[in-house]
Amino acid sequence: MLLLQSDTQFALWSNMRLYVIIPLCALLTITKQEHTECTCELNNSERIFPHEKLRKVESSTSDCKSNIIPQKSVELKSLLQGLEQRLTQLSKDVLILEKEDDRGLYGVLSLYLIENEMNEIKQLIDKLNSTTQEHQILAASATHQLEIMKTEMKVLEKFDTMQVIKGRQTIEVLRADLDSCKKEVKALTQLPQLPQGTCPRSRLVSVTGPVFYTEGEYPGLYSYGSWGCDPKPEKGKENWYWLVMMTSNNRYSNYIRFYSSLNSLIRGVSAPGNVYIHTSNPTTNTIQGPNNVLCGGALYYNCYNRDAVCRFNLTTKHVTTLELHQGTRYNSKANFCHLEECYPYTDLDLATDESGVWVVFTTSLDFGNMILSKVEEGEPPALGKTWQTSVYKQAVTNTFMACGVLYATRYVNQELEEIFYSFNTVTGKERFNLGIFISKISPNIQALNYSPVDQTLHVYSDSNMVSYKVIFE
Ligand SMILES: *[C@@H]1O[C@H](CO)[C@@H](O)[C@H](O)[C@H]1NC(C)=O
Ligand SMILES: *[C@@H]1O[C@H](CO)[C@@H](O)[C@H](O)[C@H]1NC(C)=O
Ligand SMILES: *[C@@H]1O[C@H](CO)[C@@H](O)[C@H](O)[C@H]1NC(C)=O
Repeated sequence: MLLLQSDTQFALWSNMRLYVIIPLCALLTITKQEHTECTCELNNSERIFPHEKLRKVESSTSDCKSNIIPQKSVELKSLLQGLEQRLTQLSKDVLILEKEDDRGLYGVLSLYLIENEMNEIKQLIDKLNSTTQEHQILAASATHQLEIMKTEMKVLEKFDTMQVIKGRQTIEVLRADLDSCKKEVKALTQLPQLPQGTCPRSRLVSVTGPVFYTEGEYPGLYSYGSWGCDPKPEKGKENWYWLVMMTSNNRYSNYIRFYSSLNSLIRGVSAPGNVYIHTSNPTTNTIQGPNNVLCGGALYYNCYNRDAVCRFNLTTKHVTTLELHQGTRYNSKANFCHLEECYPYTDLDLATDESGVWVVFTTSLDFGNMILSKVEEGEPPALGKTWQTSVYKQAVTNTFMACGVLYATRYVNQELEEIFYSFNTVTGKERFNLGIFISKISPNIQALNYSPVDQTLHVYSDSNMVSYKVIFE
């Protein structure tokens, strides 16, 4: 028997030795198969990552789920999908932590993120608890485990400040656990994966979250703006996030700010930095109004002082314009509004979905009702098919497109926004009574867009960046 013992002083030694001793041991086992039994025992009294606890959480969660499945209610599905989303995020954050392992300080930030994730998972589990009496017992045990886990994370966070955590291996184990946990949640919830092709027939049933929220790099500074990630990213920019803030008068902007990942967006570290459309703000073909989208390496927006869509090509830095219909209302003449106020310079709303780019606007010939047009992304961009709706644009707070369906929101109160309206471009059918609610973190929503990549809503709300998960039938 090979016995390796280490105490705290020799914590680093143990990690190094493990690599050496295991292959040696394996060799012994192979060569002396018949005669000798070789056992490796590592007695490591270093504080290790609490994956045992995580495993308990995992089993609690799946117990929970096996009881919940038969209910098959949308609410539970949403909660479970929310939970799946959280676990995916948690797993990503752990991956980031692993990468940043050697840099000490960043590790602390990642741990902070993970702790936040834990909090949100806890909130979801709290909700599960309140659904039925039976589930309460199971949820309670999971919550208990998470509480323990959170305490552990706090301890680990302190360790990391002293750069003690070199636990690459333990993080590997944790990640593997999370993966299996994630798979289990996925398998058990049996939620249908949305095939892109049948997308137009899918009905949006609810919006869960916020699943993510950050004040970003300029907390409270720019009330108007938009953000998101490119649904058709250029190679190597798959994880990038973009942010456009109306830096002049809440109305105008002349640049796009990039972040290499969601993590750097949260930390407020803009690594790729700004890409300028023009040095002046505003001037011809710079950005007017917050409802912009980035798609296929180009930003689509309302051109300054024009009734047209501008497309800024990030590679060539060249702007092409797309004329809208005659009589298109612009320069804050047909904004999104609620009873209290209108959001200035929201005449045009650019949107993305599975099929590409869209624009919502109105003209003086349409009684101020919303018009929806497809933007053909060719060279030059062109205006595709157009649909007339019977909803007055100023009675709407924002719109987004998902699976070829236009959705419109209205302000309910400071905490709630309602998706009340839909227009299906495949059937031409309108509905006015959707009653799907979005819980807000701040009263106003200045920009709202759907990301077809992960079925997420990106919301810019009083300078906060918030995201929600969209649940389809
Ligand atoms: C491992 O270490 C702990 C504490 O240092 C000790 O109590 C235990 O007996 C050790 N186990 C073995 C197998 O040596
Ligand atoms: C679950 O809900 C019950 C009340 O319905 C409450 O007493 C209990 O503390 C909750 N458990 C957790 C873990 O939140
Ligand atoms: C940007 O310009 C490049 C070079 O002309 C072109 O290949 C690319 O398709 C353009 N992108 C968009 C979105 O128009």
